[in-house]
Amino acid sequence: MPTLLARSPITPAVTRPEGVRVRPFPRVIGADVPVPVRDGRHVPYANFDYAASAPCLEAVHEAVTRALPYYSSVHRGAGYASQVTTSAYEDARETVRSFLGAWRRSAVVFTRNTTDAMNLLAHAVPAGTSVVVFESEHHASLLPWKRAVRLPAPATPAEALSAADRALRSCPIGSRLLVVTAASNVTGELWPIEELAHVAHRNGARIAVDAAQLVPHRPLDMTALGLDYVAFSGHKLYAPFGAGVLAGRADWLRAAEPYLKGGGASASVGETTRWAPSAEQRHEAGSPNVLGALALAAACETLSPAWDDLAAREEELVERLRSGLAALPRVRELTLWGERAPRVGIVSFTVDGWNARDVALTLSEEHGIGVRDGKFCAHPFVRHLLGEDRSAVRASIGIGTDEEHIDRLLTALAALTAR
Ligand code: ALA
Repeated sequence: MPTLLARSPITPAVTRPEGVRVRPFPRVIGADVPVPVRDGRHVPYANFDYAASAPCLEAVHEAVTRALPYYSSVHRGAGYASQVTTSAYEDARETVRSFLGAWRRSAVVFTRNTTDAMNLLAHAVPAGTSVVVFESEHHASLLPWKRAVRLPAPATPAEALSAADRALRSCPIGSRLLVVTAASNVTGELWPIEELAHVAHRNGARIAVDAAQLVPHRPLDMTALGLDYVAFSGHKLYAPFGAGVLAGRADWLRAAEPYLKGGGASASVGETTRWAPSAEQRHEAGSPNVLGALALAAACETLSPAWDDLAAREEELVERLRSGLAALPRVRELTLWGERAPRVGIVSFTVDGWNARDVALTLSEEHGIGVRDGKFCAHPFVRHLLGEDRSAVRASIGIGTDEEHIDRLLTALAALTAR
């Protein structure tokens, strides 16, 4: 049976002269695609919108292309192609498990994205669970809960720990869940998730981590960090084929009613319905998104061996971007914990005298630069950071970003602020 996730022969490991075998730096599709600008020219696209949707990795595209000839039903067919596709789908689950360092017995459920994953968890928490969440969360983690204690954005990481501790300690007897981001989609700042996991556990709570903005930039090990649940999206992990993941403890998921009711989630149907006992089957009703799962697993396989190179490269680029922005007098970066707080490649800012939408449109129309403007599906947090109901501009980077893109953005902002 072919192994659909095997690395393509067109991206082999190479041997450096000194004999050290290295993987080639991953590449994305569409880095430098030409886009029109106002004066009629076409320029290579400078994509600064990775935090919303990252471009597809070449290796992901190759994996999907390899899978397509065998594309068939999953868990439903006896034919050869169905067997290949089913086995590739389950292999993808194991690849994701290993990428996340998830326990062997934990559930790895394929969802549509992080929002879907957090809604699945909200659906599965036992009735009466006390949920604690910071207002600085992205809406996917802020909104799905029936009732949640919302804590203000903490002024320091230490305050995050003490506020979570106090809130969890005051929860009524019963199950408790702390929900927190690993890296902010607004400021890129890294949250102390390992310490927060300790705080949760010593208060008898579980911790669910929104890792959507962390896993495209840094490795994460659920077991080492003591995380009970992790959610993330394929479309931010260079695998834009519509899959996401909720991984974590299986018990709540196994006890909950199926998230969607239908074929696949049911073990037997007659006068009454018996639901599938495994968390994955129970919550993946209908034909699963096998290409999405394979794409996601291919991204995990491509990023895992490249973390050191990717993180080092990103740090150089973020430093170039942030120091350039800091030198522009009318540009102000948004930060919760100060300019030295560790972060991934996500930088939001405002430009005095300009509204964010006009900045974003000018960058696009005059310079071929794609940023996001708005409140980034984190309205309370952006309001907190700005002290008013206003939008910001976000430049987020990833594989495919280079120095020329950053210099072009800085030059364009310098020109714009000089008007
Ligand atoms: N969560 C996505 C973003 O931050 C949509 O842009």
